[in-house]
Formats: sequence, C-alpha cells, structure tokens
Amino acid sequence: MVLKIKDGLTPQEIEDFASQALSEMTLKEKVHLMSGHDFFKIMLKDRGKGRSVIPGGGLKRLGIPAFRFIDGPRGVVIPGSTCFPVSMARGASWDIKLEEEVGEVIGKEVRAHGGNLYGAPCINLLRHPAWGRAQETYGEDPYHLGELGSALSRGVQKHNVMATIKHFTANSIEYSRFKVNVVMNERTLREVYLPHFKKCIENGCATVMSAYNKLNGKYCGHNTHLLRDILKGDWQFKGFVHSDWMDGLYDTIAGINGGLDVEMPRVKHYGTKLIKAVEKGEVSIDLIDDSVRRIISTMLSYTTRKDPQQYHSDLVGCEEHVRLSREVAEKSMVLLKNSNDLLPLEMNTINKLAVFGRLADLKNTGDHGSSQVHQDNIVTPLQGIKNFVGNKVDVVYTEGKDLEEVKNLSQNVDAVVIIAGYTFRDEGEYIRQFIRRVGDRESLELKADDINIIKTVSDLNSNTIVILIGGSAIMMEQWIDNVSAVLMAWYSGMQGGNALADILFGKVNPSGKLPFTIPKKESDLPYFKAHIDEIEYGYYHGYTLMDKKEINPRFPFGFGLSYTQYRYDNLEVKSSGDIIIASIEVSNIGKIAGEEVIQLYVGFENSNVDRPKKLLKGFKKVFLSPNQTQKVTIEIPKKNLAWYNPETKRWEVEDMPYIISMGSSSKEEDLVSTQLKI
Ligand code: BGC
Repeated sequence: MVLKIKDGLTPQEIEDFASQALSEMTLKEKVHLMSGHDFFKIMLKDRGKGRSVIPGGGLKRLGIPAFRFIDGPRGVVIPGSTCFPVSMARGASWDIKLEEEVGEVIGKEVRAHGGNLYGAPCINLLRHPAWGRAQETYGEDPYHLGELGSALSRGVQKHNVMATIKHFTANSIEYSRFKVNVVMNERTLREVYLPHFKKCIENGCATVMSAYNKLNGKYCGHNTHLLRDILKGDWQFKGFVHSDWMDGLYDTIAGINGGLDVEMPRVKHYGTKLIKAVEKGEVSIDLIDDSVRRIISTMLSYTTRKDPQQYHSDLVGCEEHVRLSREVAEKSMVLLKNSNDLLPLEMNTINKLAVFGRLADLKNTGDHGSSQVHQDNIVTPLQGIKNFVGNKVDVVYTEGKDLEEVKNLSQNVDAVVIIAGYTFRDEGEYIRQFIRRVGDRESLELKADDINIIKTVSDLNSNTIVILIGGSAIMMEQWIDNVSAVLMAWYSGMQGGNALADILFGKVNPSGKLPFTIPKKESDLPYFKAHIDEIEYGYYHGYTLMDKKEINPRFPFGFGLSYTQYRYDNLEVKSSGDIIIASIEVSNIGKIAGEEVIQLYVGFENSNVDRPKKLLKGFKKVFLSPNQTQKVTIEIPKKNLAWYNPETKRWEVEDMPYIISMGSSSKEEDLVSTQLKI
C-alpha cells in the first residue's frame, strides 16, 4: 500500500486511498469491513450495564480504523453521561440552535468514551401516539423532524462522530416491528415518510440505519427501492447503511442486493455466507466494492479530520453539560392550560403546597431500551420543587394511594401539584417476549389511579395543577375541565425536577409547543394496532388528518401557552426568484419576557390534486422582552411547495395561489393568512 492514512486527508486523497485499498484487499478482508464484531463477547462482559462501545469494520493491515458504535437519542447511553430530555421533549422546544448544542455535547461525550459512530437522530414520523418509542423521535411533522434531526446531526458531527438517521423507514409500531409490512403508496412515502430523512442527508448526516419492518412487502434492510433507488440513487447518498440490531438483516443475498452495506452488531448473514455467495457468482463483487468504498471513505473523512478539541473523560456528565440539560428541559415543557393565570405560583402567597402522585419522587427519564442513558443523578419533580422553595413554602407529599389522606391534604393547602403519566413500564422499546419489556402503549388515557387523584383533588381545591410525564399525546377529556393548569413535562432528563420548579414558580417562562396533535377522541387518530402483520399508512395523519376531517382537536399541533402574550401584525408575503419571503411583526404585549415559536404554514386549498389543507414549511423561535416587537422573516424555497406526482415520477410545483399563514400554532384562529400566486 503506497498511500497512507494520516490526519487531514483531502476528499480526493480519501477516494484514492479507497481505490487503492479495494485493489489490494482480499474478498475476506472486504467482507470483514461489512459487519460488527465481538458483540456477544462484549455483551457478556457488559452484563446489561450499557457500558460498551460496539465495534465493527476496520482492517489493521491497511490501517483502516474500526467504527465504534454508541447509542442513543436521549444522550450517550454509557454510565455517567449527560441525560437530556427525550427527543420528543426537544422537538417541543422547536429550538434548532439548542438541539445543535445538544448534539455537540453528545458528540463530545461519544468521543470521550472512545466512540465514532452515534445511534441517533431517530426521526421516525409519529403517526400514532401509542407507538412505544414515540419519545425517541421529535414529532408528527416531516418538516419539523427534518430540522431537528439535522440540527442534532450537525452538532454531533462537529466532533468527528458519524451520526445515524434511524430507522429508515416507517418504523412506528413497536410490538410488530420485526415483522409488520407497512403498505403505502409512492406519494405518501415521498411526501410524508421520507422528506425528513432526505433533509438530514442533505445536511450531511453520515450514515443510515435501516428499519426492522417491511415496506410494501420487502424488509427495509433489503429494500432496493428504498436503499438503492431513492437513498443512493435519487438522493445521491455517499455514506453507508447499517442494519438495525436484533434482526435487521434477514437474508444474505437480499440484503446486499437491496443496498445494505453493514450488518450490525454481529455477523449472521454476511461474513462467510456473503463470501460464499460472491464465490458462487450469486452476488456481484461490484456491490461489495461499492459498500466497502462507502465504508472506507465515510470512516476516513471523519477519523482523519482535525478535531476541534481534545476529549478527556472528565467531559462526560460535566457541570456545563448538565446545565444544558436543564436549559433544554426548561425550554421544552409545554403549558397547555392555565385558567385565571394560576401559574406561575407566587412564593409570597403560597404557604403550603401539596405534591401528589407515584411519579413525583421517581427517577423517571423514560424508556429502558436502547436509548436509556445510565445516569443515577436525577432530580425528581418533588426534589426540584423542594430545591426551589427551600424553607419558604411547606411542601407536603404523598403518592396518593390513600384517597382519604389526599382529600385531607387537598383541603389544607394553597395549591396541589399532581405528577401523572407514564414510566418505562408503560411505553418503550420492545425486544422480545422473553425479555418482558413493554412496547406500545395499551391506552392513551392516564392510569385509573392518576385520574382518581385528579378528580378527587380538583373537587376540593381549585388550584389543581396537573404535570404530565410521557413521550407523546395523552388523552385528557375525562378530567381536563376540572383542573386549573396542565403542563406537559415529558421525560425531562436528569435536571427535569429543577426545570419543572423553575417553570411552576415563574423563574422560567414556558415556551414549548406541541410537536403533535392531541385529539379529543382516540377514534380521531389513524388506525393503529400493536400486534399486526400488515397495515396501511395513509396520506393523512396528525394535523393534516384533523384538517381533512374538519375535527377540532383538544390541542392543535404547535400549541403552547406562555406567561406572557404575543400579538401578530402586518403579515407581508412576496415572491422573489426561487423563494417566497414571508414576514410578520411579533410583539410581546405582556409583562414578562418570553420566547415565542413563530410558525409558517402553506395552504394548498386551491390545488387540483388532493393535498393537505396546510403544511408546516418554516418556524423560528425568538426572544422578546415586554413591549418589544420583532419582525420575523422566513424564507421558503418554492421547490418546497411541490407535490410528488406518481405518474410523472417527479416533484411538481403547482401554478396557483397558495395560502401563506404565520402565527403561534396550527389552529386557524392562531394564524394570520394571505394568498400568494406563484
Ligand atoms: C434499536 C436501535 C438501536 C439498536 C442498538 C435496536 O434494537 O432499534 O434503535 O440503535 O438496537 O442499540
């Protein structure tokens, strides 16, 4: 080998190295690069502690480094790492800059643990809130998902860690993930289930993890249309595709023909079986060479790039990272109801506060599957409230098993905070029956115990505040009219309790907005069944479905209250070359500073084809002091208005008047609209 791997290789030098390596490598060496190694050995040593980096690829003889995989979406899973609020919470922050900062912290911690391949962002579209892993993704809207996923990838990759978008694609039923055939038409695939993946690729995300499920009859890891025609063909993706873990690859020849480059985390269908298939002429060596080239060039472009800093182990879970986790939790909680401005609570007027609920003093950062961050230093809601009030407010706490005690306490306090919702026992990643880990949610309602407490308390104390813990929509019709305030707090990471108290007592003004729709009835949602062999995913879900069926949800997509009020004036929209420029003046007309998420929707009511009433096409989060007005401008490339015509197989921009709306949520009344002909 004449060419040598050294720091700072140019793209051309990397390509030259890959070509020379390919000409010198044996078939066995090439195939060695195409899978994970030593998985069982490592797992045996690890004993479920989540301490391990999982290696794959690599070739010592030529100096090609191994990739070293670490999960996951909520932070680095290895013990001691910073535990952030789950991705869904971060989706609710609508804060791209903040998500990129989260990515940077994760990137640094991956490096400090010796990793170079990171198992996130997870950007599966939330079609139905019962999906067990809803918490690992960012929401229901493709535009929003693409923005958040790109931000996380950018942040991570700044530290020369390869990010992975997963699970490609239509992976959103947990119990059936290993077998379900998700059927959808080409238009739905291109317009609803793929744009966010495409955006992350365009933003440079290095690798893709295929999904376990089938898409239109073919496993995603074998799916030529998905991996070769679309990803590597239409989108010109140059990185590599690795399989999901348990059984993401089901067959040697189907996998390599389909476009799957790397089998993770161990050799099952590649390795010797792949070597034999090539030797027998069943698989073309060109396909192997294409995969190996992708692996070598992606690996080298990350491992030979100059690092922006050094990565010592004391970076892991350091003070600065934990502080960011708190900021993210504060910026992601969504205030859904606040009658008579009960919140924020005034320390001067509250002498005694009751905190109820079995989740109030529980370390509850979400699912215990592959995204679990092994972190013990977690501030519970009760602890956070106590930290905040010190000895200025008398805080009484009970789990709430004894309703008589609940009644007594409720009558003798100034306000009650009920922490209700779920844990990893209710929703999460499903492995296999024998591991007995829960997958999809059985019900979208709160548990009967929680509802009993809420109803009992709210009859006796008009200052009842419900804090919801969970990863996606929770039905509230049974009790919401009885309570004064509701805050969606999510699984809010290691600092969640402190962040919650900051919001309850007004140190922080809530600014989160729902990244999904909360309907009034489960029957308003698309069809969902957790144990199922085949399901059709239609063109409409979430807010597009609500708009189509003219249903008023309980809370619309993009909704969230603040302790201040904002006014929207003077929407201006113009067309300039290939872009549309929309601007609006947003004023903080309340008494305190806050952050507002300005959303831009484009309406397609004048279309000749069946299209959503409107789609999110832009958003910005801005900080406004009281009495401050800011002109917020959002640009939309006209090509982003296109629909996918399955007959011409092209994206087409219609010549028609579009309705451009800007405002504080997807609800009609919250938007200011005008028309623009292009
Ligand atoms: C999950 C992936 C995860 C992998 C490795 C799989 O079961 O579906 O999201 O990255 O395990 O932990």
